[in-house]
Amino acid sequence: MKIYKAKDYNDMSRKAANIISAQVIMKPDCVLGLATGSTPVGAYQQLVKWYEKGDIDFSEVKTVNLDEYKGLPIENDQSYYYFMHENLFDKVNVKPENTNLPNGMEPDAEKECARYEALIQSLGGVDLQLLGLGHNGHIGFNEPGAAFEKETHCVDLQERTIEANKRFFASADDVPRQAYTMGIKTIMMAKKILIVVSGEDKADIVAKAFFGPVTPSVPASILQMHPDVTVVADEAALSKAPC
Ligand code: GLP
Repeated sequence: MKIYKAKDYNDMSRKAANIISAQVIMKPDCVLGLATGSTPVGAYQQLVKWYEKGDIDFSEVKTVNLDEYKGLPIENDQSYYYFMHENLFDKVNVKPENTNLPNGMEPDAEKECARYEALIQSLGGVDLQLLGLGHNGHIGFNEPGAAFEKETHCVDLQERTIEANKRFFASADDVPRQAYTMGIKTIMMAKKILIVVSGEDKADIVAKAFFGPVTPSVPASILQMHPDVTVVADEAALSKAPC
């Protein structure tokens, strides 16, 4: 696990965007695993700027997103589909047919999860998976206690996650209670992983996830076992880490 300390959020975003951009330059038809949440927004903005300058080309890139709320239509501005279009897809030359997210409107969870998992396999797996880190150590929507061997599945969101995400909705009652997410096994099968973390409120979980024991109670701790993980975190997020 390589850990890069960034000065602040902007520096973290630029470093992360550099790593993503290097991946696209080295393999123009790569499969990027993408993430939502507030942390990667700055990296997406940087990628858009480089695209506008002609420095990066997404025309052959394929994308698979980590997760999606169950029951939110794509037109809902809190769906991850909407987020990805707003922050990246509509601003670069990725082909719409090459972008993929779980279909939150498919009520049959078993069918949708099997479809998504098969899709990832059919693309040849993920070359670089971008991740954020939840306050409770979740990655994607794999909440504490999630079995490490799970593939894409439907999860019941935990109270802490609903609380953390309610800032984006009119009220906590409007936050969906379930989501489809790549499982830990799916994430661990990515060839490379890039996890971005910012802010002092993540300092405790950063110390536990990357410097503590590997345990299902901190889902991100499993990343310590992956052969090619890069953590890009700012000083505030690393303030309680022994490095
Ligand atoms: C959400 C997403 C995760 C994300 C996490 C952290 O619940 N499902 O993929 O990493 O929250 O979000 P943020 O970056 O806003 O702290």
